[in-house]
Amino acid sequence: MSNRIALYPGSFDPVTRGHLDIIERASLIFDRVVIGVLQNPSKTPLFTTEERVDLLRRSIDGNSHTEVGTFDGLTVDYAQSVGAIAIVRGLRVTSDFENEFQMTLMNRRLNPDVHTVFLMTSFSNVFISSSIIKEVFRLGGTIDDAVPPACAEALRRKFPRDG
Ligand code: PNS
Repeated sequence: MSNRIALYPGSFDPVTRGHLDIIERASLIFDRVVIGVLQNPSKTPLFTTEERVDLLRRSIDGNSHTEVGTFDGLTVDYAQSVGAIAIVRGLRVTSDFENEFQMTLMNRRLNPDVHTVFLMTSFSNVFISSSIIKEVFRLGGTIDDAVPPACAEALRRKFPRDG
């Protein structure tokens, strides 16, 4: 029986509707999608690894094709350890391309057996990123339509507002 596994790696600090869009699309294509949370991203995360995993798990609840794991080290090594044939990455705006291109070629060089597949979010999610969500929320803006409810609650706990 075929069991095509994809790894969707990222910082997920925190998960957004853009990430969920990619997870949904990937789970239609692959038999199983492992969402890999990078434990020590170069940028200091707002949420701990446990919080990022918990928010993801609560947000994908009900999608039986997916699971959440954590990793440190090379993404291609984690991909191999979970049996993934592909790394999935989301593409939003053209400025994503340069970095993704570089990562893809490096990952291919590190392990030519692991392919990278790019998926595009729906247009309504094109402008959403974890960093912009954190900034807008911190400055008092509304983010509820851009993140899952668990994430909006978590942001409110991190940055309590008056009233
Ligand atoms: O959500 P992000 O921050 O865009 O995800 C970036 C991520 C985690 C995919 C990337 O930083 C990564 O793969 N880090 C693990 C270390 C690694 O494998 N580096 C070589 C890839 S070029």
